[in-house]
Amino acid sequence: MERLVEAALKARENAHAPFSGFKVGAALEDTEGRIHTGCNVENATLGLTVCAERVAAFGAISQGVREFKRIAVAADSAALTPPCGACRQILWELCGDLEVILANLQGRSERLRMKDLFPRPFDATFVR
Ligand code: THU
Repeated sequence: MERLVEAALKARENAHAPFSGFKVGAALEDTEGRIHTGCNVENATLGLTVCAERVAAFGAISQGVREFKRIAVAADSAALTPPCGACRQILWELCGDLEVILANLQGRSERLRMKDLFPRPFDATFVR
């Protein structure tokens, strides 16, 4: 199995999802080949929940990383789980046109690109 998907599956095991029971892992690869992982972290107020993708992206950014290549997202769903709308906005803005690999626990996977998942974005070009 691919290294990045493996990292996302492993990160998923750390998910804190007592409310939804839906565990997600993400693994974001930078242009140096380093992998930054994240899992969803839920909160009793529900609205303060942070998705796995954003945890991975914010972790990488806080380490000083600014250039990225790919992200893998792993969840236990037959229909492969894509990043939510909020994560698409954040990933587009911080990481650009990533390759996005969706994977599940049965070994199914699919490759997409952020520009197709998030067409016509409102981004930094509008506010600079
Ligand atoms: N979730 C993610 O972490 N990433 C996604 O791509 C979709 C949804 C989380 C948020 C919440 O903890 C749980 O999955 C159910 O929505």
